Amino acid sequence: MKKQKIDLRFKNFKPKDYLNEYYSRIGSENFNLLKFFAEAYKLVPKNSLVLEFGGGPTLFSLISAAPVAKEIHFSDYLDINLNEAKLWKNKSPKAFDWSSFVRTTLKIEGLNKINAKDIETRENLLRKRLTKFLHCDAFKKFPLGKKYSDFYDVVSVNGVLDSITAGKKIWEILLQNLSTLLKKKGMLVMYALKDAAYWRSGERIFPAVNLNEKDIKIALSKLGFKIVYISSIPAEVIDEKAENYEGYKGFIFVCAKKT
Ligand SMILES: C[S@@+](CC[C@H](N)C(=O)[O-])C[C@H]1O[C@@H](n2cnc3c(N)ncnc32)[C@H](O)[C@@H]1O
Repeated sequence: MKKQKIDLRFKNFKPKDYLNEYYSRIGSENFNLLKFFAEAYKLVPKNSLVLEFGGGPTLFSLISAAPVAKEIHFSDYLDINLNEAKLWKNKSPKAFDWSSFVRTTLKIEGLNKINAKDIETRENLLRKRLTKFLHCDAFKKFPLGKKYSDFYDVVSVNGVLDSITAGKKIWEILLQNLSTLLKKKGMLVMYALKDAAYWRSGERIFPAVNLNEKDIKIALSKLGFKIVYISSIPAEVIDEKAENYEGYKGFIFVCAKKT
């Protein structure tokens, strides 16, 4: 990799570049992410109030959430990302097409012979459940403002806390800030990059914390979480010298209950 400056403030984040780089096809990483969310939302009670934290320009993590959610609030730090998610909610022709992710999710959930109507039905359910788009900042003690403390039944946070800093201690603080959003007995649904040094989007390099399962278990238990599910998968490219190495070796999937 050429030496490049790490973009710590997300000034140069480009939603379309990011979507094209990570979500233009369903390889083993995206397939396993969808499988994780399908499993995770089996653990969540019906009529839950769900927050997607740092959703970026993406909706894939919420496809399995829609049937169990009462409402879904979608948050990100960047307005350009919130706008991208709103394009999809509003069925804009400029919106990213998540239909192949919906089809794959339905298949993982066990539906046979999926047709266009099945996909449209799930997409419309998700659109209906998305009721608020909020600005968030994980570096704040109350990342959505005080009003939202002890507020959500489920907080979904994927490749965010581990992907906006390179410091493990800072990551622990971000996790603590995030935990204020959950009600007692609420569920954290999270994936984090494993053994990461950085991650890429287009020409840009962004920071990442070097985490493994043990780090996550320790940090969550310090905050009083009980882990109900944890697993990991390798990244599609793990050779650091490969041209298409993205900066991380895998993904860690976790569901944990706030006690
Ligand atoms: C690697 S992307 C993950 C996006 C999405 N969750 C996914 O799984 O593809 C990291 C996200 O963190 C967001 N972000 C950057 N700074 C943040 C902050 N201070 N608080 C919360 N989110 C932030 C970015 O806007 C971006 O959407």
